[in-house]
Amino acid sequence: MSAVVESKRISVPEIMAHKNAKPVVVLTCYHAHTARLLDPHVDAMLVGDSLGMVIHGMENTLGVTLEMMILHGQAVMRGAKRALVVVDMPFGSYEESPAVAFRNAARVIQETGAQAVKLEGGARMAETIHYLTQRGIPVMAHIGLTPQRIQVFGGFKTQGRTMAEWPAIEADARAITEAGAFSVVLEGMAEPLAAKITQDIAIPTIGIGASSQCDGQVLVMEDMLGLNPSPPKFVRQYASMGADIEAAVTAYAAEVRARTFPGKENVYSMKKAG
Ligand code: KIV
Repeated sequence: MSAVVESKRISVPEIMAHKNAKPVVVLTCYHAHTARLLDPHVDAMLVGDSLGMVIHGMENTLGVTLEMMILHGQAVMRGAKRALVVVDMPFGSYEESPAVAFRNAARVIQETGAQAVKLEGGARMAETIHYLTQRGIPVMAHIGLTPQRIQVFGGFKTQGRTMAEWPAIEADARAITEAGAFSVVLEGMAEPLAAKITQDIAIPTIGIGASSQCDGQVLVMEDMLGLNPSPPKFVRQYASMGADIEAAVTAYAAEVRARTFPGKENVYSMKKAG
């Protein structure tokens, strides 16, 4: 008797089939409990290298390692049973050559069980995307504002504001599509350009700060939950969890500090009394 259990997880072809049919809902996710909560509601979870900033307090994503991505990928896979899980390839793990990219992406897939990887870059990464997809590793591409090139961009700047910038970005979109990417994140992109790319290419575009014209949307979960004190301007907050946590911790601390000890003044109530 076979011990193989059929997977109910959303597949890469199912995400591709959203094109021109239904929006793709994506959120970032870095740990098991939140993965379990998101799982019934999203089509895909992205274990983004933004975790370097959000979870580890780094200034940008450049210090994130493959080991960090694998560890968080494993945590998310333990919580997510239905959604497609995509793990970001961190800076330095894929740019050198297609073979290096394959070795590291294969580690991510084998050690986490995630179904796909994401990597940043357009035409310059097309050869690598082709190499990976030909060898069984589905790739979500990422063009426009690519945070791993923050030093080159000189900051988080919207791409495609002037039409002079369009041809290169459109060429990126075509190149990654032809190379075999199954979807592409359009980050920090002017709306008319994002709309045009979405119309022109055959794979789903997933926007972040790239307007509602994309085939789907991705947000950093902590930004939309109100946990980031200075979220990007385009983010709509659906909850105020930062304020909720502060209120809960304040109540908890007050309760613990209300305990009295025989023969001792409660220093906290003394402080309060002034
Ligand atoms: O790292 C990340 O979270 C991302 C998203 C912002 C798309 O790449």
